[in-house]
This record gives sequence, structure tokens and C-alpha cells, in this order.
Amino acid sequence: MEVSPRAAILIARLFEQATGQTLSQDRFWRIGTTLTPFCRTRGIDSIDQLAMRLGQGGDSTLSLDTIDALLNNETSFFRDPGVFSLIGDELLPRIAAHRQREKRIRIWSAACSTGQEAYSLAMMFADQAERWAGWRIEILGSDISRSAVEQARSGLYSQFEVQRGLPIRQLLAWFDHVLDTGWRAKPQITAMVTFTRHNLLGPPPAGGRFDLILCRNALLYFSPERRHQMLEGLALATAPDGAMLLGAGETARDSSSRFVNDADMPMVYRPAAYASISNAA
Ligand SMILES: C[S@@+](CC[C@H](N)C(=O)[O-])C[C@H]1O[C@@H](n2cnc3c(N)ncnc32)[C@H](O)[C@@H]1O
Repeated sequence: MEVSPRAAILIARLFEQATGQTLSQDRFWRIGTTLTPFCRTRGIDSIDQLAMRLGQGGDSTLSLDTIDALLNNETSFFRDPGVFSLIGDELLPRIAAHRQREKRIRIWSAACSTGQEAYSLAMMFADQAERWAGWRIEILGSDISRSAVEQARSGLYSQFEVQRGLPIRQLLAWFDHVLDTGWRAKPQITAMVTFTRHNLLGPPPAGGRFDLILCRNALLYFSPERRHQMLEGLALATAPDGAMLLGAGETARDSSSRFVNDADMPMVYRPAAYASISNAA
């Protein structure tokens, strides 16, 4: 469908207000490709008509659905397997050593899309049930996309989705086959995970700091100023002895002085204040 410049500007503005992401003019084509099927399934004749309805306001569901349609929700189970090896082999043992007394670990999968990352973490604990017996494992998954969070909460994944990154052994161990629908995460997994809608530009979720935060493949969509703002929030949410991980192509160094790279594991970020105390000690 054709998109008039006026409609594109209005939709881009709505998207930026809601998510903080700028859809620059050279990416306006995305509005056409993404919202054409969106309009067709809703019986809306054109993207200009959609923009007119959005401009009139009053239909918050249509606004939220339009924003969700424009977000890139690309994700998969155990995305970047090396990161999960690092978490299992290096980070969790170190976190556990610091949390021996309270036996509680809090993890935040920020911008988690449809939840595969949060469930991948939960499966790592479930796979070592004996090792973690008596521990309280709390994994919070959050995303700005309402539809993504709804799917994450349902724990339901299509055959296509489970085929992306989820080894067959873990699929059969931790998911039930649901006829005609796909696969549903088992209670042993879902019990560890909660999901909430959250904007990374706002204050961190309530409930205390996290021992480990994963915020992968999200910051790259934002301007340096917004990345800085998001990293401030992530720093506030990281426990003083906690760790934060970004996506493979992302770095905190250019946008924030709140984090420093771990001396032994360069892709792991530590809160700067704590790292300087522990280096001096
Ligand atoms: C490419 S996905 C990455 C998902 C997952 N972290 C991964 O690496 O597989 C980026 C996610 O960021 C979310 N997102 C975009 N803007 C956001 C914001 N302002 N606050 C929170 N999440 C946001 C999108 O909805 C999307 O699900």
C-alpha cells in the first residue's frame, strides 16, 4: 500500500512517543511493508485511513496494535548459545557464591520480546534441579510490546518457534505438545518466570535489584541519548555485585560510564562504582 508523507510522519511520531525509537525518513518504507498486512487483516482500506483513525485518537487498542506491529520482535531460544554457556559456566556459579546465605537469585530479561530468552534461562536451572534445590529463582521478562508480553505469559510457542534454537531434549523435557497450537512451557519452567510490560525509558521495574540483567539486541534501535537514558535505568537495577549483558553488536562504553567491563569476561558489564571498589581492594 502507498503511504502519504503526512501519514508516515504521523505514524512515526506515534511510534516514537510510545517506544522512544526514531523511524527516520529513510526507513519510512517499513511503515508500508509492516502495516499493509496489518490494515488488510483489520479491514482498513489504506495506511492513510489508519493514520487518520490514529490521529483522531480514542482507539487505544488500535494504537497499541499499530505500535506492536512496527516493533522488531526477532528472538529465539538460546539466542547466541555462547552467551548461555557463559551464564551457566561462569556467571551463575559466581552469583550463587555471593548469594549462599539468602539462596535467592533475581534475573531480568529486559526487552525479552515473546519470552524465549527468559524461558531459556529457566530451563538452565530446571536442567540442574539438584544443584538449585532450595534456591528461589526469580526471572522477570519485560517488553514494551503488549502482544509479545501476552504470548510470553501464555508460554505457548509454534512448531516454527521451538525449532529455532531449542534442542529437542529440552523441548521434550520442558514443553507439552498442545494439539493444533504448538508447545506450551511446563509449570516447572513457568513457575520461575513472570512477565510484565515495561518501557526501558522509564524507571526500572519495582521489587529490588537484579543479580543478572540481559538486555540484548534492543539498545541498537535507539539514539545515543536514549541509550544513555536506558543504561542509567539498567545501572540502577543492577545489584552492586551483579552483572549486565548486552547483545553481540552492542556496547555500553560509548553511552554510559555507569558500567565497566568485567576484568575476566569482557562481554560482561559490572556496575562501575562496585568494580572500582573491588579493583582497589
Ligand atoms: C530484537 S528484539 C530482542 C529480543 C531479545 N532481547 C533477544 O535478544 O532475542 C527487541 C525487543 O525490544 C523491544 N523494545 C523496543 N523498544 C522498547 C522499549 N522502549 N522498552 C522496552 N522494550 C522495547 C521490542 O518490543 C522487541 O521485543
